[in-house]
Amino acid sequence: MSQQTNQSWGGRFSEPTDAFVEQFTASVNFDRRLFHHDIRGSIAHATMLARVGVLTLDERDAIIQGLGEIEREIEEGAFPWSVALEDVHMNIEARLTEKIGITGKKLHTGRSRNDQIATDIRLYLRDEIDAIDAELARLRDGLIELATREADTIMPGFTHLQTAQPVTFGHHLLAWQEMVARDHERLRDCRKRVNVMPLGAAALAGTTYPIDRHVTAELLGFERPAENSLDAVSDRDFAIEFAALASLLLMHLSRMSEELVLWTSAQFDFIDLPDRFCTGSSIMPQKKNPDVPELVRGKSGRVYGHLMSLLTLMKSQPLAYNKDNQEDKEPLFDTLDTVKGCLRAFADMIPAIEAKADSMYEAARRGFSTATDLADYLVRAGVAFRDAHEIVGQSVAYGIEQGKDLSEMTLEELRQFSDAIGEDVFEVLTLEGSVAARNHIGGTAPDQVRAAAQRARDALSALMEERA
Ligand code: ARG
Repeated sequence: MSQQTNQSWGGRFSEPTDAFVEQFTASVNFDRRLFHHDIRGSIAHATMLARVGVLTLDERDAIIQGLGEIEREIEEGAFPWSVALEDVHMNIEARLTEKIGITGKKLHTGRSRNDQIATDIRLYLRDEIDAIDAELARLRDGLIELATREADTIMPGFTHLQTAQPVTFGHHLLAWQEMVARDHERLRDCRKRVNVMPLGAAALAGTTYPIDRHVTAELLGFERPAENSLDAVSDRDFAIEFAALASLLLMHLSRMSEELVLWTSAQFDFIDLPDRFCTGSSIMPQKKNPDVPELVRGKSGRVYGHLMSLLTLMKSQPLAYNKDNQEDKEPLFDTLDTVKGCLRAFADMIPAIEAKADSMYEAARRGFSTATDLADYLVRAGVAFRDAHEIVGQSVAYGIEQGKDLSEMTLEELRQFSDAIGEDVFEVLTLEGSVAARNHIGGTAPDQVRAAAQRARDALSALMEERA
């Protein structure tokens, strides 16, 4: 145990911190990953302090120079991190004072670790959001490309995981694209609330120095300074919001994963995933397991967990800053790592999917997937829909008995159930006719899929241009 009290706040203490308490309360082992953003915030703060005359220009320059050296030391792994110094902020400040002397102790003028950490996390999250934004765009792009390639590929569409009606594979892929497009919008929206600057709130009430928060906000690329100092140091809504949108995204990726897992099975046999996204079994030589989608499906759980941690962390906290808030970092960091990993895996894997068109077609042909088309045909011929439903039900029962799909029956066989059926019925009983007939916005017809893919491409380009 060190005999000295902590150099940053030990002035009023008569004994050193208990050794276990020191370890227990320290955050440096996880908040050190904020070092770039902590230094960036400190440089902006010092620059502002010099501009308003609280620091001299020489002091400002010494601080900026010292922080630059510290940043390089950390990058090179040469920085002497110390748990006794509690967190990333005090580690860097102590080193700065070691390097430049008393001027280093002036950096913290008009600032508190409370507004400092809130600023650091927002700067860090903003960068991570931008990286995630680019990965989401890459994933959407891959989905749109594959959908365009597979616009004519016919597969069974399911409800209750039972064959329902034929759809095109491109249509299915564009459904996935819609899910992640919503996630992308939510991410953009969340970024607006991340991009507000707490710095200047100091511990909770603001500071007596003549600070100019607009200068600091501009230097750090924030949209504006936070409006209220008490709220600024205690608000973690933005982290919860991020975890919430991340949970939705992972839920979507888990749904896609589930389908990929099903489709690669011998029972479905709809797609092939290249070997580089799969692994083998140590005991069963024939196995090729879809590990990447399985793992992504599994990782959704930890992200939901982090959302619950963050919500519970903030529940009932009185204003303003409380040490509880230190617990925001690990859930947030792990959420970011998980989201980035899953998105990268998906963005790499989607364009590599190989559709087994024959196998999909065969599956759609079995299972009476054009039964609704026959009912619609009868309605067009003047039969009431309920009666048409009954007639087709009887035809299907006959088909099951005879081992024949509707399209494989003769006209006579079909006419046993209704004399409204004519020669032209076979046009609607084919899979191609069935998908082509759903020819409206949002429908599965190949032409509609191509048009929808083009609209999706335009929407994505517009969103990416907004950011540029
Ligand atoms: N490590 C702290 C956190 O992560 C930094 C702020 C500490 N402020 C304080 N007064 N103890 O929230």
